Amino acid sequence: MKTYQITEWCHHFLETHVKPGDFCIDATAGNGWDTALLARLVGNEGTVLAFDIQETALENTRARLEREDLSHRVRLILDGHQNMEKYAQPDSVSCIVFNFGYLPSGDHALATRASSSIPAIQAGLSLLKKGGMMSLCIYSGGDSGFEERDALLAFLKDLDYKKYIVVLSQYWNRPNHPPIPAIIFKL
Ligand SMILES: C[S@@+](CC[C@H](N)C(=O)[O-])C[C@H]1O[C@@H](n2cnc3c(N)ncnc32)[C@H](O)[C@@H]1O
Repeated sequence: MKTYQITEWCHHFLETHVKPGDFCIDATAGNGWDTALLARLVGNEGTVLAFDIQETALENTRARLEREDLSHRVRLILDGHQNMEKYAQPDSVSCIVFNFGYLPSGDHALATRASSSIPAIQAGLSLLKKGGMMSLCIYSGGDSGFEERDALLAFLKDLDYKKYIVVLSQYWNRPNHPPIPAIIFKL
């Protein structure tokens, strides 16, 4: 049975959007769940770039891809996602995935931060082609605090509605600062 936890919710939209042959970016590789999904969806003709600032995250992602025989579809990049414009051309990317926060069972101090997350979203929006989609999993509370969530929500609210559709979902009946899934479509 599907539980529609936040990543499963976002995967639902990725599955409907990403097509064989697409060029996609996982901006936060972590343990590689999102990278592996994108790699499956783009097929043998497609490509995925996967960024993380932690070598451990890229090793975990590499191991997952090898287990699923998907490595040849993915380029792993040890760099901050705020630098993604160095690795792709404007208007070339079908889908970009952000899963903010910290590496589960990793160092919580190496979590994403608004100061780099917002420049990364801006960079990603310039790389998306028209009709492209960006998926964002936004967390708050606990070690994540509220600063990044609040900054991201304020930034998304101000995106030009003539250029982007921004849709947020809410786990309305869930206590304790539930995560917020967001989807952006570039018009
Ligand atoms: C919640 S985890 C990602 C989970 C992952 N998508 C998965 O499927 O397992 C967040 C990741 O963002 C990474 N991160 C933090 N700051 C970053 C940055 N500036 N650029 C790229 N990755 C970053 C962390 O190292 C961590 O691995």
